[in-house]
Amino acid sequence: MNLQFTVEQEMMRKMVRDFAEKEVRPWIPKMEEKEMFPRPLIEKMSELGLMGIPIPEAYAGSGMDFTSYIIAIHELSKVSATVGVILSVHTSVGTNPIVYFGTEEQKQKYVPKLATGSYLGAFALTEPSSGSDAASLKTTAVKEGDVYKLNGSKVFITNGGEADTYIVFAKTTPNASSKGISAFIVDKDTSGLKIGKSEKKMGLHGSNTTELIFENAQVPAANLLGELGDGFKVAMANLEIGRIGIAAQALGIAEAAFEAARDYAKERKQFGKEIGKQQAIAFKLADMATKVEAAKLLVYRAAHLKDQGLPCKKEASMAKLFAAKTAMDVAISAIQVFGGYGYTKEYPVERYFRDAKVCEIYEGTSEIQRMVISKQLLF
Ligand code: CAA
Repeated sequence: MNLQFTVEQEMMRKMVRDFAEKEVRPWIPKMEEKEMFPRPLIEKMSELGLMGIPIPEAYAGSGMDFTSYIIAIHELSKVSATVGVILSVHTSVGTNPIVYFGTEEQKQKYVPKLATGSYLGAFALTEPSSGSDAASLKTTAVKEGDVYKLNGSKVFITNGGEADTYIVFAKTTPNASSKGISAFIVDKDTSGLKIGKSEKKMGLHGSNTTELIFENAQVPAANLLGELGDGFKVAMANLEIGRIGIAAQALGIAEAAFEAARDYAKERKQFGKEIGKQQAIAFKLADMATKVEAAKLLVYRAAHLKDQGLPCKKEASMAKLFAAKTAMDVAISAIQVFGGYGYTKEYPVERYFRDAKVCEIYEGTSEIQRMVISKQLLF
């Protein structure tokens, strides 16, 4: 594996870093305190081509490699994990399923709008009683003439209420477990689709997380995505990609927490010298930096495998498992380095801690990542 980034990848990093500092950072108070969804930032990201980085140019995407996309999530998440997850969900699981599994007609109809950011995408798999056990979902889709009627509800939908299209999973053959699930592209203005309550979350305050309620929602049969009964595969294949995105988000949080703690340790003086010169803090920073570096290698290795078209199921899960744990560990250590100040909202480290936690939960909990990894190792 070549550890050098290409000139184009470095240009992407610089462009996103500048954008994050100039445009995203000033938005943090609005997202944190007012829980405002950063729609104006999405418009600016659309202008920069960030809403369709790995999507082929034939469908109005930027046609860049997967590593460039991961660089963008990493850099955005260093400033705002909220903006990082909006982009990750939109691309990995909101747009890619149509690119990979859509008919030519579906691709022409939806992908250019998603890739240019005029549409925002979302992914609706989780239900009140089916989270980790995704195959046990209860939403049904029954064909009547040229529509499918969907009934049921989805929860914890990132970009819910803001998205224009949802990739929705429903049972088309009851009692057939994962083989009875099909995927659908559902437009936001579908009759019978209602946006339910918006969650009050510990972190990611600018990201909207809602319920979706389907009451005889009428989805055109032409919006069946992939073959009938292939929905679980559509979900799993795209979650595999999504998990690298969430790993990059966690990496961004971890790196930001480390850098904040390092900078503080160089300035804050106690017992007559900078706290970074006290071995207790210096060693803590050494451990934090080592974990961040290890997470970086796992994240970019998974992205590299994806770019090479090589299998990366195990590596994607390893990257997410390790980067999410690193984000938690490093954020907690950063709060400790800041002491009492770290526990206040005056400094960003408490936000990093709150934002890090969900990386161990969504797009497959850390326990699910261990299931995926061990299955790949053993069978
Ligand atoms: N690509 C393509 N197909 C895949 C696949 C992949 N990466 N992984 C699995 N499949 C297929 C398998 O080939 C298999 O098909 P066959 O029977 O035809 O061979 C089928 O899917 C079932 O696979 P498994 O037997 O491996 O599935 P399992 O039942 O053992 O385990 C699980 C499934 C890993 C536990 C799965 O249920 C899972 O990942 N659960 C977690 C759900 C999850 O991640 N939810 C996230 C919600 S979305 C979200 O959070 C987004 C957001 O808003 C931020």
